[in-house]
Amino acid sequence: MIGRPVWRFTEVASTQDIAFRLAELGAPHGTIVRADYQTAGRGRQGRKWDAPAGLSLMFSVLLRPTCPLHELGSMSLAVGSVLADVFASHTTAPVQIKWPNDVLIDGRKVSGILMQTRTGASSIAVLGIGINVSTPDLLLPVGATSLQAYADDPVDTDVLFSELIIALDRMDRDWQPLLRPDEVSQIEARLWQNGELVSLLDAEREIVGRIIGLDSSGGLRLESNGTERIIVSGEIVRGPRPIG
Ligand code: BTN
Repeated sequence: MIGRPVWRFTEVASTQDIAFRLAELGAPHGTIVRADYQTAGRGRQGRKWDAPAGLSLMFSVLLRPTCPLHELGSMSLAVGSVLADVFASHTTAPVQIKWPNDVLIDGRKVSGILMQTRTGASSIAVLGIGINVSTPDLLLPVGATSLQAYADDPVDTDVLFSELIIALDRMDRDWQPLLRPDEVSQIEARLWQNGELVSLLDAEREIVGRIIGLDSSGGLRLESNGTERIIVSGEIVRGPRPIG
């Protein structure tokens, strides 16, 4: 069950490390590690995740997947969809999912998801979630904002955390590596820049194409030079721009 137990810390290097350590010690699937402050918070692509104490929600969920780790691609999208639904219950502003791992409000990043895996005696995945709850825009990188900036009412971080645990647990019970058509459509309806021309950066490679949706394993369907490609990793680095 997601959130049984929750380990809460005032300060850690990264909740990801603690979750992996607890996994080695036999902690169950669903264990959550939450911290008020991280001295070495990690983001995707080797980036840092810095957040001032008390203004954001940062936690890691330990998963013991029963499927091969390479089939977890759709999990972070499903998690993004859960976050988006919960955020949407606090705001009337548009909440979108930026493939593969970010949740945006009004086009600005409010949350990032980091999935890290390890194989050993058993397979482990740690899903790290960082949410700007009430961080003032001034303290955030350009292009980021907080949920509170768009919320209709004051957002209580502990209440938000409880809402997320309930929704994540529901998702986890239902989740399968291949998304159902209705789940694909639901995520596509929130997909940032769906139908737009974008640039995608994967390692050193840049691919330009039009987003045409998602496939059931969570890959991004991109129409590029008249052919459809399924992108499984990378990052959308630029929005629509003229061809040529
Ligand atoms: C990203 O946007 O690049 C992903 C950011 C993930 C940040 C969270 S905060 C909790 C957990 N612990 C970490 O060190 N990182 C994740």
